[in-house]
Amino acid sequence: MSTNVKIAFLCGSLRDGSINRQLESALMMRAEEHGATAERVDLGEYEMPLYHGDLELPETTKALVKHLATFDGVVVVSPEYNGSLPPLLKNVIDWTSTFDRAHFFGPVWGIASCTPGPMSGIMCMRQIQYILTRLGAEVIPVQVGCGNAGSAFSEHGALVAQPSSDLADNLFNAIIRRTREKAALADSQ
Ligand SMILES: Cc1cc2nc3c(=O)[nH]c(=O)nc-3n(C[C@H](O)[C@H](O)[C@H](O)COP(=O)(O)O)c2cc1C
Repeated sequence: MSTNVKIAFLCGSLRDGSINRQLESALMMRAEEHGATAERVDLGEYEMPLYHGDLELPETTKALVKHLATFDGVVVVSPEYNGSLPPLLKNVIDWTSTFDRAHFFGPVWGIASCTPGPMSGIMCMRQIQYILTRLGAEVIPVQVGCGNAGSAFSEHGALVAQPSSDLADNLFNAIIRRTREKAALADSQ
């Protein structure tokens, strides 16, 4: 079966020179090497105010949910802030969860994180996994932690550090396999 697998990439940092953007770009290249179509979904183009319950639902929230729901996979690439996820990402998750959960239920989700030091964002990835799972998302258990960002990439931007590089292959193999399994199940019904 030749299902074209479409994967969205969301980065939790909008910073110029972000190492998570660097990881996002490397993962997009890797996804395409696996035969998938990779698309960056820039959260800077979906600005949302800090959530509180009296605010009207932003149009950007609706647009983001509808767009993400069209993908087979969504990969979150996030910095770790104080052992947790950054407010940008939490705000987007909270806003979108108040509108519609189609984007959590439809695609399978992957998680990655890049840090300057050796710890590779394990604390924030665990928290993102918990939140997404609680919202009903199917989250691939393999997480692409990438520590020591300064030496993790080649001069062409490819992810070369181990075990991060193997983890990236495992993640995309799993997203593609699950997408094909879901398509086969839908065809058989
Ligand atoms: C508020 C704040 C908290 C941080 N907390 C952590 C942390 O808990 N663990 C960690 O590895 N790095 C932490 N860092 C360092 C970030 O990993 C580093 O700034 C990284 O470059 C941010 O990602 P970005 O380059 O994609 O923006 C923190 C940075 C900030 C600004």
